[in-house]
Amino acid sequence: MKSTGKVIGIVSNLVTVQTFGPVAENELCYITLGNTRLLAEVIKVNGDKASVQVFESTRGLRGGDAVEFEGKMLEASLGPGLLSSVYDGLQNDLTTMEGVFLKRGEYTDPLDHEKLWDFTPLASEGDKVIAADWLGEVKEGWLPHKIMVPFSFKGSYTVRRIVGPGSYNIDTVIAVLTDENGEDVPVTMVQKWPVKIAIKGYKEKPRPDRIMKTGVRVIDTFNPIAEGGTGFIPGPFGCGKTVLQHAIAKQGEADVIVMAACGERANEVVEIFTEFPELIDPYTGRKLMERTTIICNTSNMPVAAREASVYTAMTLCEYYRAMGLRCLLLADSTSRWAQALREMSNRMEELPGADAFPVDLSAIISNFYSRAGMVILNNGQRGAVTFIGTVSPAGGNLKEPVTESTKKAARCFYALEQNRADQKRYPAVNPIDSYSKYLEYPEIQQYLDENVDKGWVERVAEAKNLVLRGKEANDQINILGDDGVPMSYHERFWKSELIDFILLQQDGFDPIDCNSPMERQKYMLELVLDICRKEFSFDDYEQCRAYFKNLINVLKQMNYSAFPSEQFDRYREQLNQISA
Ligand SMILES: Nc1ncnc2c1ncn2[C@@H]1O[C@H](COP(=O)(O)OP(=O)(O)O)[C@@H](O)[C@H]1O
Ligand SMILES: [Mg+2]
Repeated sequence: MKSTGKVIGIVSNLVTVQTFGPVAENELCYITLGNTRLLAEVIKVNGDKASVQVFESTRGLRGGDAVEFEGKMLEASLGPGLLSSVYDGLQNDLTTMEGVFLKRGEYTDPLDHEKLWDFTPLASEGDKVIAADWLGEVKEGWLPHKIMVPFSFKGSYTVRRIVGPGSYNIDTVIAVLTDENGEDVPVTMVQKWPVKIAIKGYKEKPRPDRIMKTGVRVIDTFNPIAEGGTGFIPGPFGCGKTVLQHAIAKQGEADVIVMAACGERANEVVEIFTEFPELIDPYTGRKLMERTTIICNTSNMPVAAREASVYTAMTLCEYYRAMGLRCLLLADSTSRWAQALREMSNRMEELPGADAFPVDLSAIISNFYSRAGMVILNNGQRGAVTFIGTVSPAGGNLKEPVTESTKKAARCFYALEQNRADQKRYPAVNPIDSYSKYLEYPEIQQYLDENVDKGWVERVAEAKNLVLRGKEANDQINILGDDGVPMSYHERFWKSELIDFILLQQDGFDPIDCNSPMERQKYMLELVLDICRKEFSFDDYEQCRAYFKNLINVLKQMNYSAFPSEQFDRYREQLNQISA
């Protein structure tokens, strides 16, 4: 028996419902409005009253309107066909819709039920299995998509029957499992999972032990993110958060990409729609979209749907991780999500925390970030969810609650700076404030030592130190004037400029410079450090400036040249002549 209720209060998307029968937090309900039914989620229960947030406009809703509770939480449908889809936060399929606007009360099915998939069994009759074990495989694009024992199955099962190789749709019963009580349960290629609960289905979740390459030097060289790691990009409006995240999406070393786009500007979502389907995967030469799912909020959706989208996106990643794949989740921007939490909390007249955000904001953000990670599956294989979110602090103030809470939750910090963006020093990541805590992990240090180069971590620290010393020298020059400081200050400053222009800055729109492979990053770091290690004896600071400007020009040309190539070698030769 489903519980029912009736509307007794409406404040925008927050509706108070008088309930008849038991209702649980996070449970879904439908509110009848004329001929349509609006989906809503219970966010608070107090005696026989429930506060529910409606995922749509509540225009026209009235006191007394009927409510029907569903007895289940917001769930994602998981099965083959998720990749190359564009969904909203409730997993409505936006690709098949006329434009992106669904009518109020319209919900679509996220998966194609007709499409046939070539199934290959991976389990045999008589096998003992538990939740998340692989029963079979279909090819989704070119990726192996595992059909798993549903995550909700508790205890152990015996495979009683499994279909042979063949083409089936997602609703076909591909296996019958017998539980510990001798009951038979059918398994199809689609399963459901509540988005707010993390999918377990793995043996252990150890610390990440390798890096995920992005082709972006400020990340890979200076502050690498681990495979299965977490990072965030705070930055004021227009500083390059979206451009940087898109670069990571295009170039990141991952099997599956999920983009949660809670657009800051309306046209950003449109850009994703038009730009992403055209992108070519640098690893396979096929369409990047073949291994991407986009979850975006359309402008006509209320705040509540923004909250759902990050959870749905994370659930999809966890699902693919359970198949032994490396997933990359990008959320832009998580501030929108936090604002949704704030709006709801304020409407419920809860006791507010800092800046009127809910008091448990920090816990909500930490819980979400902790769903990322590298895991060892029950069969010993690895899977990973790497998560990078952007934060847009109001007025660029990094002390505001969302940034502070995210800083506690994420292990990499890529602070975009207005000042650097104004100078067109892109990506505008501040080299001094930014960090990667993974660099301190012994297992990551060992990985870099063995896979990039011996002594790599020390060399990176040396470069960072040069940047810091250059900044100090520059501060002195600014106070005392060009003539008021010793020559060594100018030299120090220009060495840091060399690192800035050649290693930190990277043209996100140049076809070669945008994506820098690790071999190339290693070569350039060495080259630049070799120059920085030299002691020069310039006659005056004009000479020093001219010398370094010359060097920077040539090295920049190298960044724009293919590596290796004759052109690259010619600039290398030119560089030798300058430094001779
Ligand atoms: N790596 C980059 N290379 C070149 N231009 C960039 C780069 N990053 C940002 N920009 C410039 O800055 C503009 C704003 O970037 P965007 O990512 O939209 O900012 P945000 O998402 O922080 O509001 C871009 O349209 C582009 O002109
Ligand atoms: Mg943006």
